Amino acid sequence: MPTAILARPDDFDGWRTAARGLVMADTPGETIVWQVGSIATDLLGGAPTAAPVPTEPMFSVPRAFLDIARRVICHRDAERFALLYAALRRLRAQPKLFDDAADPLVRTLYDLDKGVRRDVHKMRAFVRFREVTEDGDGTDSEGRFVAWFEPDHHIVRLNAGFFARRFATMRWSILTPDECVHWDGELTFTPAATRADAPDGDPLEATWRTYYASIFNPARLKVKAMTAEMPRKYWKNLPEAALVPGLVAGAEERTRMMIAAGTTAGQSNETVQAAARFVGDGRPTDRLIALRNDAYRCKRCPLFGPATQMVFGEGPADARLVFVGEQPGDSEDLAGRPFIGPAGQMFDRALAAAGIDRARAYVTNAVKHFKFEQRGKRRIHSKPDISEIDACRWWVDHERALIQPAVTVALGATAARSLTGKAVTISRERGRALTLADGSEAWITVHPSFLLRIEDRAAAEVEFDRFVADLVAVRERLTALGAAS
Ligand code: URA
Repeated sequence: MPTAILARPDDFDGWRTAARGLVMADTPGETIVWQVGSIATDLLGGAPTAAPVPTEPMFSVPRAFLDIARRVICHRDAERFALLYAALRRLRAQPKLFDDAADPLVRTLYDLDKGVRRDVHKMRAFVRFREVTEDGDGTDSEGRFVAWFEPDHHIVRLNAGFFARRFATMRWSILTPDECVHWDGELTFTPAATRADAPDGDPLEATWRTYYASIFNPARLKVKAMTAEMPRKYWKNLPEAALVPGLVAGAEERTRMMIAAGTTAGQSNETVQAAARFVGDGRPTDRLIALRNDAYRCKRCPLFGPATQMVFGEGPADARLVFVGEQPGDSEDLAGRPFIGPAGQMFDRALAAAGIDRARAYVTNAVKHFKFEQRGKRRIHSKPDISEIDACRWWVDHERALIQPAVTVALGATAARSLTGKAVTISRERGRALTLADGSEAWITVHPSFLLRIEDRAAAEVEFDRFVADLVAVRERLTALGAAS
């Protein structure tokens, strides 16, 4: 049996070299043994047959496949090498194989890819460095930061570049049960560590815990949503997590007290109102949260496959103003929140100029998953098509039906299509009220990313002012309708 020996569980280069030789020799996948680490004998005790060295040039493989493969190799699923090899064999005759998201093999690989990307994201979100001032041998190591993390998959090397860029000026180590990565101006890797090798809490953590306890709002407690965002396995390494059980246990009582205090004293402060909105069954906020939880499982179109996560709308359930964008971008896909990347910053600037408080509006997207084309390491935004917009309209309609805003604003053509169900020319429709099929009022304007694409500075300023003028008209309309913005 040909045996492909890989140096590490995430040895993409080793897999690629072996897979190339094997595929060019037309080796059936089921005959290959994929082995991590060296072995002297094969499974039956004989000497293993090495994978053939490629002699002919390889047929060309889509870049997108290599990008997916580079991540899938990091998955802990023992079948990953064989699955990728099966895909490589099929790509020879079917170069567009990965366009068919319904193909079972493609689907499986997308799922593995998604698992790895999610883990990469969790590592970025949940690594907490603790400062170490002295080495065990007494050498001063001031300025070294050490974190402990338990990844689901073999992602330490895949993620190392991110931490090196993000924390370029610090000296740091991330210890894991798989292997450890260190940064001292260059990246180095050492074998697995144990939890005991990582330092425990420090004074900074106490400060963080105090802050977390002070911002914790018991009325907003949703254990299910919390564990979806921050899986329990990461809690033990987060300083703030030590507080969670106590805060959860006291939450119901504190909520009751907040409401009682507000009622008896006749107060109507925001906290009391927020608390009132978050308790009881069937209230708009509960239903919005339930809707969002359903949307996490959405498979109405194939975009759920490659995306990191569904990005739902954000804002108060009783907002009088709803903004609908196109789809999450790269930053939104990773963070799980709408309009936080470059287009979101442009949007925030325009809202501020128009005197609209974003915190009082509900901001969502026509399409809830990021659609992109993988080019090298970059994920390039790709426009959702009509079937994807139409499939996702179900969620937008439900969000709006629960919120019942006085005005909905479509940011760009995709949002306008989602709200009206037809193609809309923005320049013709912007700046005035339209009536939607459900009788509610909508306004249409440009998408903030349109402003980002204008190269000429003077023209960009003109368009920014036009965008702000559209938003001012919306604010004035809300006032006329008796709804604050
Ligand atoms: N563009 C959008 O349309 N929505 C986002 O959330 C981000 C960028």
